[in-house]
Amino acid sequence: MSQQERILSGMRPTGSLHIGHYHGALKNWVRLQDEFRCFYFVADWHALTTHYEDPSVMGASVWDMLVDWFGAGLDPNRSTVFIQSRVPEHAELFLLLAMSAPLGWLERVPTYKDQIEKLKDKDLSTYGFLGYPLMQAADILIYRARYVPVGEDQVPHIEMTREIARRFNHLYGREPGFEDKALAATKKLGGKAAKRFAELRTRWQQEGDAAAIEAGRALLASASIPREDRERLAGYLEGTSRAILVEPAARLTETPKLPGLDGNKMSKSYGNAVLMREEPKALTDKVRKMTTDPARVKRTDPGEPERCPVWQLHKVYSNEDTKVWVQQGCRSAGIGCLECKQPVIDAMLAEQVPWRERAQPYLDRPQLLREIVDDGCARARQVAEETMRDVREAMGLGYR
Ligand code: TRP
Ligand code: SF4
Repeated sequence: MSQQERILSGMRPTGSLHIGHYHGALKNWVRLQDEFRCFYFVADWHALTTHYEDPSVMGASVWDMLVDWFGAGLDPNRSTVFIQSRVPEHAELFLLLAMSAPLGWLERVPTYKDQIEKLKDKDLSTYGFLGYPLMQAADILIYRARYVPVGEDQVPHIEMTREIARRFNHLYGREPGFEDKALAATKKLGGKAAKRFAELRTRWQQEGDAAAIEAGRALLASASIPREDRERLAGYLEGTSRAILVEPAARLTETPKLPGLDGNKMSKSYGNAVLMREEPKALTDKVRKMTTDPARVKRTDPGEPERCPVWQLHKVYSNEDTKVWVQQGCRSAGIGCLECKQPVIDAMLAEQVPWRERAQPYLDRPQLLREIVDDGCARARQVAEETMRDVREAMGLGYR
């Protein structure tokens, strides 16, 4: 079942990624490939909502980021990896959703006023910036994704996406010819199952028998029929119809917050990041210079790991024995900070090895990267086109 369920997520193109991107998002994206049909995209139009004056952030940034995605372990044979602007259907759905999207919903998105405040040096009183959560909704809904792996800050966007889907289905929900299509789908269940499904539906709709609807859902879940028919029959069973757009759920994962080298949030713009493909020598130097417990001035002063960003790295990179060694050694001034950092450096260097190996073919042959992304864009477009056909038809635009 879940192999049919779709995951979608996107990232703005920011060039080479740092280890915070890996531990905060990519690692999880890679894992989800085992369980779902995954769609991952470069959100280049999103980057323009805040960097419209500086399109130089595109171009190389897009390709550098993609090299790190594949280096991290995204598998082009299992995941569909594409670039948003190469699937123009996203813009079409964004436009069509805009017709009925209440302004208040967009103005109420918490990041909206926040970001305008925070990014004071930029003029963000633009139509594009107000609209970007709706563009995100279109990104998700066009793939009928069930789950969207994102960080905490993005949850309000997913909630709004659900509201947008619900509103759309409410306004345009009833698929033309729904009854006929549902009956045809019932037949596909096969004689006995079809009969049982019809009985269960009657028991639910006429007698409100909750066990019947449960049994009906179970029957659908195990039936080998196309996804569209399964959705239709789910609606037929409930007494609604086939939902045209699917309400997605955010999929939060417990991700450790990796501190930057100065103890603040890791970010390339703060200059405190360690890149995934950082040169080993540069990586070693950076971590050796990293901020430690400010109260530990001299080697003989005891320290407190809880006040030290290096300890946060140990939590991600070290085993139990090493962690005990750090806690005791730090608090008793038994170890020095450089000594304490060495296991972290070793673990980071080891972690880089497979990333580098997997990235190398793409660095050697940029054409390979282009081809894989071409293929991903084409596959993404096929799915997007399928949704758009239903959306156009539902909105009275089906004349072709
Ligand atoms: N807005 C997201 C961010 O800034 C990126 C993004 C765009 C996204 N569209 C998406 C994430 C769709 C998940 C799903 O990080
Ligand atoms: Fe931080 Fe380790 Fe130094 Fe303690 S010994 S202050 S945990 S770097």
